[in-house]
Amino acid sequence: MRRIAVLTSGGDSPGMNAAIRAAARVAGARGARLVGVEQGYDGLIDARFKELTLELSGGRIAPLPEIDVIGNLGGTVLGSVRSPRFMKPEGRAQAAKNLADLAGLIVIGGNGSLAGAHALALEHGARVIGIPASIDNDIGCSGTAIGVDTALNTIVEACDRISDTARAHRRAFVVEVMGRHCGYLAMASAVAVGADAVMFREQGRGEDALVAAAADVIRRGFAAGRGKRRVLLVKAEGVEVPTDRLVKRVQEAIAADLPGVDVRGTVLGHLVRGGSPTYQDRMVAGRLALAAVDALLDGVTGEMVAWQPPVPGGTPTPDPSVVRFPLERVLEETKALLDGSSPVTRRRVKMMEANEETLSL
Ligand code: F6P
Repeated sequence: MRRIAVLTSGGDSPGMNAAIRAAARVAGARGARLVGVEQGYDGLIDARFKELTLELSGGRIAPLPEIDVIGNLGGTVLGSVRSPRFMKPEGRAQAAKNLADLAGLIVIGGNGSLAGAHALALEHGARVIGIPASIDNDIGCSGTAIGVDTALNTIVEACDRISDTARAHRRAFVVEVMGRHCGYLAMASAVAVGADAVMFREQGRGEDALVAAAADVIRRGFAAGRGKRRVLLVKAEGVEVPTDRLVKRVQEAIAADLPGVDVRGTVLGHLVRGGSPTYQDRMVAGRLALAAVDALLDGVTGEMVAWQPPVPGGTPTPDPSVVRFPLERVLEETKALLDGSSPVTRRRVKMMEANEETLSL
């Protein structure tokens, strides 16, 4: 009987469990067993496998009952690590050895995890398929990744709550959201919550320029006669100025013009990465997992299943919203997304710049 493995790796994201559950169901429906690898690539090196399916009387395969109920859970039941051992050729060789008896491996994760899958395929001929999962929405060739929608909903709720208290005291807030290398969460949430300004790494602004722009937005927001009671600035984690320093400097900058107006900072941090996945993340996770299992069982390797890609091309699958791209292309596109040379990043930045006036009014 064919057995495939699945692992989650790198930063967890809500919806990873929904993808694992769906993979177990689809594998079972196709007559294959699914084994989970605990603790990402570390677990693969140590052969930490656990069965996720069981064989019913009559030979049918089904997810274990405890796996069939994980779709609503945040985090990942398989555990996740960033594995320094897997960075070394010996680690990857051992990991590939442990895959030898399996029909292939599904890797659910972000940039580093997909690069790991690519290396396994390239160096050892391992059969791998990637599923993009990263709250940051920083994976090339895919319009979204598992976890993005939940993270954005969490940010929106947090900003709404902060706005309530900000309005009560007529305060300005800088809210920092996750996104070390990619400002997408900041950009998208700023639009959704009606923020007054957004700051993200891709803008390339220095500290003094950021302080001046933020102070200006607050001055305009709280200008006499305007009647506005909250000014909200969303800042991506990737902006190099720490939020507490930014808040302190902006407070000093507005002190003379707006006496009595407080500027406060809130760093949402890992709050944004947890929580029960939204409908959208569960649905995307389920459909990507289906395409991933089918691809592996069809003998496809070295590719990633992607959701409604913004670029044309790709091999169509039976699901019109899911296409596959070679991992090599995904990794190139991801690099371009992060270094700003991708048309997707340029489009995002341009769109935010075009709307700067709206956001900063
Ligand atoms: O998964 C990406 C990410 O969410 C980044 O935005 C963030 O900086 C990072 O993970 C934090 O990861 P860790 O939990 O390992 O510090």
